[in-house]
Amino acid sequence: MIEKRTVCVLGGTGFVGRHLVGELTKVGYFVRVLSRKRERHRELLVLPGVSVINANVYNSKELNRHLAGVSIVINLVGILNQRGHNNSFNVSHIELTEKIIAACKKNNIRRLLHMSALNADAEKGASKYLKSKGVAENLAHDAQGINVTSFRPSVIFGPDDDFFNRFASLLKITPSIFPLACPKSKFAPVYIGDVVSCFVKAINNQNTYGQRYELCGPEVYSLKQLVEFTASQIGVKRRVVGLGHGLSNLQACVLELLPTKPFSRDNYKSLQVDSICDEAFPAIFNTIPKSVEAVMPKYLALKNSRGRYYDYRANARRN
Ligand SMILES: NC(=O)c1ccc[n+]([C@@H]2O[C@H](COP(=O)([O-])OP(=O)(O)OC[C@H]3O[C@@H](n4cnc5c(N)ncnc54)[C@H](OP(=O)(O)O)[C@@H]3O)[C@@H](O)[C@H]2O)c1
Repeated sequence: MIEKRTVCVLGGTGFVGRHLVGELTKVGYFVRVLSRKRERHRELLVLPGVSVINANVYNSKELNRHLAGVSIVINLVGILNQRGHNNSFNVSHIELTEKIIAACKKNNIRRLLHMSALNADAEKGASKYLKSKGVAENLAHDAQGINVTSFRPSVIFGPDDDFFNRFASLLKITPSIFPLACPKSKFAPVYIGDVVSCFVKAINNQNTYGQRYELCGPEVYSLKQLVEFTASQIGVKRRVVGLGHGLSNLQACVLELLPTKPFSRDNYKSLQVDSICDEAFPAIFNTIPKSVEAVMPKYLALKNSRGRYYDYRANARRN
């Protein structure tokens, strides 16, 4: 009988994690998800083969304990903005990666999948986010005795993403004109299903050891095009007005003062570099990446009243 292996996922309760954990159980892994607050993630708690554990992942002793009996570690922890103190990129990206590597060594775990980001670069990263992600990615790959694969996606989209859904919500509450920072920044959005499939396919593929994979979708769009697409799909008429550099920076200065930090000066710096790949989707994963147009209309339509009406009717028929 083949022994069922346990994968431990850090950051497994987030957007990427929720999709990945489900897929890992489908291919036969036990999944241990470490979370700061498991009670918030009921949808994962009910999945067979998944245990969600309350953990302080920054406490090395605790992390060691939770990695006992694990064969594979996947690190998805990442923050887009610093909260509380000015050192949180270092703590969440760099120091956590160091602690994960130490805990893997202590528990004799030889496989680590690490989530980085497109344009992450320890030296040339355009923002603190991208620099700290770059340092963490290098640390993971430099770890002796651990087979590491890292992924560097552009913005990831899907039904419950934080990109299209956030713009959809903002567009709805904005009167006729929508002021958009960095309208010309380019993205090649990649579908969550394609990202998750790469993680799952990489786990046991020795050819992926030591590799860093950039992941992009098939089309490149400007940020303005993506926001206009969102508005058209949710059925709101807004004039999207692109802001120049000065006003984009000013918008970042103001919005980073809000408790939720919807946009910050560091985000603004990240947007100065196009989030697009130099090469096609990595052939090793044998995947034809899906486009935004093939996936998002169905989900975004649910955000307009007509779409919701059809959704209610469909649900009513099911009950
Ligand atoms: N989404 C994208 O478009 C995109 C694009 C490129 C790269 N990435 C990278 O992909 C990874 C996953 O992204 P995501 O969109 O799934 O993020 P997410 O939805 O924000 O989820 C991240 C998870 O990490 C945990 N977490 C958050 N802040 C933490 C902190 N300070 N300390 C410890 N744990 C923390 C949270 O779990 P608990 O609250 O349960 O502890 C959260 O569920 C990140 O590393 C991100 O940088 C994402």
